Amino acid sequence: MVAFPHAIWRKPAIRILDRPTLFLAGAISALLLLSAFFFFTSLDSNSIPLFSQSKPTNLCNCNQPNPAFNLHFDPPISTFYDDPSFGYTLDKPITNWDRKRRTWLNLHPSFQPNSHERVFIVTGSRSTPCKSPTGDHYLLRFYRNKVDYCRTHGYDIFYNNVLLDPELPSCWAKIPAVRAAMVAHPEAEWIWWLDEDAVFTDMEFKLPLHRYKDYNFVVHGWPKEVYVKKSWLGLNAGSFLIRNCQWSLDLLDSWADMGPKSSNFNKWEGVLMDVFKHESDDQTALAYLLLKEHQQWRTKRMLIETGYYLEGYWVLIVDTLKNITERYLEVETTAGMLRRRHAEKVSERYGLLREPSLKDAGNEFGSWRRPFVTHFAGCQPCNGKHNPLFTGKGCRDAMDIALNFADNQVLRNYGFVHRNLSDSSGVSPLPFDYPA
Ligand SMILES: *[C@@H]1O[C@H](CO)[C@@H](O)[C@H](O)[C@H]1NC(C)=O
Ligand SMILES: *[C@@H]1O[C@H](CO)[C@@H](O)[C@H](O)[C@H]1NC(C)=O
Repeated sequence: MVAFPHAIWRKPAIRILDRPTLFLAGAISALLLLSAFFFFTSLDSNSIPLFSQSKPTNLCNCNQPNPAFNLHFDPPISTFYDDPSFGYTLDKPITNWDRKRRTWLNLHPSFQPNSHERVFIVTGSRSTPCKSPTGDHYLLRFYRNKVDYCRTHGYDIFYNNVLLDPELPSCWAKIPAVRAAMVAHPEAEWIWWLDEDAVFTDMEFKLPLHRYKDYNFVVHGWPKEVYVKKSWLGLNAGSFLIRNCQWSLDLLDSWADMGPKSSNFNKWEGVLMDVFKHESDDQTALAYLLLKEHQQWRTKRMLIETGYYLEGYWVLIVDTLKNITERYLEVETTAGMLRRRHAEKVSERYGLLREPSLKDAGNEFGSWRRPFVTHFAGCQPCNGKHNPLFTGKGCRDAMDIALNFADNQVLRNYGFVHRNLSDSSGVSPLPFDYPA
């Protein structure tokens, strides 16, 4: 059980006492000064700045993720959408996609600003009700969590719950979904696939896209495990970024060619078993693609990210969330700006403000930074067929803790908190200037 009694988070010392006593010199003027000083201290409570009268300098919203898209404008000039031979499915090969995308963007200039870093999230689950009685409840909460993240950062999201290609079922179903999303969203540079059981546990962290300018595909893992030890568990295909470009369409073709629909399936099954000692599934196939690319000398476009949890295994994460909460509250106790109430729309600003206080936190394993994405691999919340290493209750308890941990970051903007991370129903109102 994880609980956070508010009482722990009292401000450690009364701030006013730390202030220089210089002001106290002098007689009457000092008294006057002192009263002014107390007035401001009680108002600003440490570091909320006194607002200047000058106008904000950046009135243009052009650095925002989605500056005023024109949603009504689609000129009558023909594009790839008008080509009858062009399709969303894997059996309709696409060529010259980079040029086609660029042409579309030129015809739709309102989508051009920042298009090089626009992210579109794709996730999904099966089309029928979950077998586990709590499955649909958790899927709803997992989805809500993704919507919360998207709302905070101005991302769009597509939740697919049909098999777009019946011959690519279960774990393979992400390939046709990502393929269709690329075509449906030429305005997006990156498609981000997330499994339904992945939870954003840091609502503030943003993908470091500047690190990926030379890459077209990013997945979380351990390079040595994949490249040297040839382990299919050296990465996790539950969360990956793929650039919306021709290279990626070709990669998806190669990936799908290893799947059950392909006439080469049996051949690949043998190869994967041989190389990775594991049966063919989307992850083993992806591991093979990474390995092969790594063995080639030409420019590499696939990256195994090790620097943060693009996806992290819940077993390593959930037990750390209580301490992480405490560390963040400690930081907020001393940083007034981080306690400042604000509209949810501008919460990215406060994520940036928090960064300096996290510079020693590290990232990924062993860090006290909030883990970015926690993945409930092996819990199978929908069909209930969890890995025998876990119990259904153990999974549900852990999912509650992670979801409530994430929810606290959202609810804060609405003035509430789950004081007990294991209690999904109970919230209490947050006092002003919490946790001062
Ligand atoms: C949480 O912090 C306490 C006190 O610092 C420490 O003893 C404990 O091992 C930490 N727990 C985890 C899971 O890191
Ligand atoms: C937290 O909530 C859980 C689930 O409602 C409950 O069983 C537990 O007793 C609570 N813990 C505390 C410290 O209140």
